[in-house]
Amino acid sequence: MEKQGFVEFSGVQKSYDGRTLVIEGLDLSIPKGEFLTMLGPSGSGKTTSLMMLAGFEAPSRGEIRVAGKPIQNVPPHRRNIGMVFQNYALFPHMTIAENLAYPLKVRRMGWAETEGRVARALDMVQMGALAQRRPSQLSGGQQQRAALARALVFEPDLVLMDEPLGALDKNLREHMQFEIKHLHERLGVTMVYVTHDQAEALTMSDRIAVFNRGRVEQLATPAELYEEPATVFVAGFIGENNRLSGVLADRQGDGGTVRLEGGSVVRARVAAALEAGASVTVSLRPERVRLVPANGDGGLFGHVSELIYLGDHIRVHLADGPATGLVAKIPNNADHRHVRPGGRYRVEWGPADAIALPVGP
Ligand SMILES: Nc1ncnc2c1ncn2[C@@H]1O[C@H](COP(=O)(O)OP(=O)(O)OP(=O)(O)O)[C@@H](O)[C@H]1O
Ligand SMILES: [Mg+2]
Repeated sequence: MEKQGFVEFSGVQKSYDGRTLVIEGLDLSIPKGEFLTMLGPSGSGKTTSLMMLAGFEAPSRGEIRVAGKPIQNVPPHRRNIGMVFQNYALFPHMTIAENLAYPLKVRRMGWAETEGRVARALDMVQMGALAQRRPSQLSGGQQQRAALARALVFEPDLVLMDEPLGALDKNLREHMQFEIKHLHERLGVTMVYVTHDQAEALTMSDRIAVFNRGRVEQLATPAELYEEPATVFVAGFIGENNRLSGVLADRQGDGGTVRLEGGSVVRARVAAALEAGASVTVSLRPERVRLVPANGDGGLFGHVSELIYLGDHIRVHLADGPATGLVAKIPNNADHRHVRPGGRYRVEWGPADAIALPVGP
């Protein structure tokens, strides 16, 4: 028998109205202890998938198992799942300590053990000193940490988080990302995390499932998604990219040459299923672009139409030539001082730095 994940979605479909499928067919296997992120644009089905995993929504077809059992068959108080949802707020009339004690009370835990667990959970998120405050007396980040502690206090096997950091400012969000990641490493629980923020997904996850219109377009590690995107959608959603349209002229193994619409011929890695003659989109990351001073008319050249200073790097927009519309990110160092507004440059890249993908739908 095939090895089962701790969480298994098999052939899951979901329709709310009996007509349109908002989840078209989800198969996902999550091993114990993994930090898996569901990433995708608004409306792509992330929350729906998480609600089904929590047992709050039933799949229209297919099945979701946790530790081998269909979640629908497990009564809610037996589901050992911690949850932090954006709108799943703390109880306002209770202190933080009472909020944390609540899931233990529901599980009929004794007083002494409850006290010990609450204290440990508060220490874990460095909130011990604030135990007697009410949620309204805490900052947004402190409330978020308390919500996290409440989700973990009963030592769940599985923790679900839906955009838990959405309401926080950038600094606090980044700080909490690391706290959650470190807690995950320490506790070894299985995490299923939902976000539409790609930087957050890259920072925190072991693997990322990229959702698009009710399907998973690609499931892979952060580095694989960035370096080996399977589709134009994934390449555009994870990080920035330049897209060049053309036709695959020939391929040898993993590489090939592409004749771009403007006539230039460029080299790229080639996605698995493509054959010579196929229409392709070449994805080129801005930080992989090299700008070489150009005089002649050969290659992919353009003029610098905009040069934006961003401190650690410089963003260069090209126009007025076959490279029109291309964006380059170049490091802010002495090697690149030659790049000037109005200057004329040829765009180059290493053979592994561009990838030819099937033209998206
Ligand atoms: N209770 C519901 N009844 C009917 N349709 C719903 C319901 N909840 C979600 N939908 C629809 O299902 C689709 C997927 O919604 P879902 O909330 O899963 O998206 P999401 O990926 O979480 O988006 P976001 O990033 O905006 O939170 C959307 O088209 C949405 O309008
Ligand atoms: Mg959502």
